[in-house]
Amino acid sequence: MTGTPEKHNRRAPPVWSPILSLQTHIPAGLPRIDLDALCRALVEQGWAVFALADTAMLTALREEALALWQEDELTRAGIGRADDFDIVREIRRDKTKWFDGASEAQAAYLDFAETLRVGINERLLLGLFAFEAHYAVYEPGGFYRRHLDSFRGARNRILSSVLYLNPGWEPADGGLLRLFDERDDSVMADIVPECGTFAVFLSEEIPHEVTAALKARFSIAGWHRCNDLGRAPALQARVLPLAAP
Ligand code: OGA
Ligand code: MN
Repeated sequence: MTGTPEKHNRRAPPVWSPILSLQTHIPAGLPRIDLDALCRALVEQGWAVFALADTAMLTALREEALALWQEDELTRAGIGRADDFDIVREIRRDKTKWFDGASEAQAAYLDFAETLRVGINERLLLGLFAFEAHYAVYEPGGFYRRHLDSFRGARNRILSSVLYLNPGWEPADGGLLRLFDERDDSVMADIVPECGTFAVFLSEEIPHEVTAALKARFSIAGWHRCNDLGRAPALQARVLPLAAP
């Protein structure tokens, strides 16, 4: 498993003219993240949360997500093999759009994900190979019931990540990412989807849900995979019974 996935190579190389870069190249200012802390947390508890610096990338991603929503470019997400609209509606009510890497903002985020991929592989030998991501909006009332992002042992999605794009989000606005301890169903964390908050967790091990959002809630959900099966979102979530109250 060597080489860089093709999708990370699509971006044209930057032009290193200082004048050009001043005028035409918006410095992406990729956020920096403490990879040692991230990897330690993954080993010890299976998840980690960071506050990313407010970079040009973050602003551009937020603006793109909002614009795509306003232009009605986000479509209702599916689940597993269930095509039945009513079943899907009871499990998740978000709208999504897969990244194609075409915009500067998406390319920057894919670069960021690539730095994570390499850095995590160096430290944990997870064999992360490819990354896929989509924008998501949970409109008021939107939720996603408790699920795993990958079947255990399927070894396709290894690491889940979510970057939130909602300035001024309050816990009372709902839309929390709730992480459960798979051993006893206790709640390990409630993560508020404030802009710049970046959550990562092990796809096969951390059951999670999104509680009902009271306002439109924007995010980027991404998955580092150990293979490149192409985007097969249809096969990838396992819905779990509701946790005991
Ligand atoms: C998902 C998911 C969590 C979130 O898309 O699979 O669990 O906080 N998203 O948006
Ligand atoms: Mn999920």
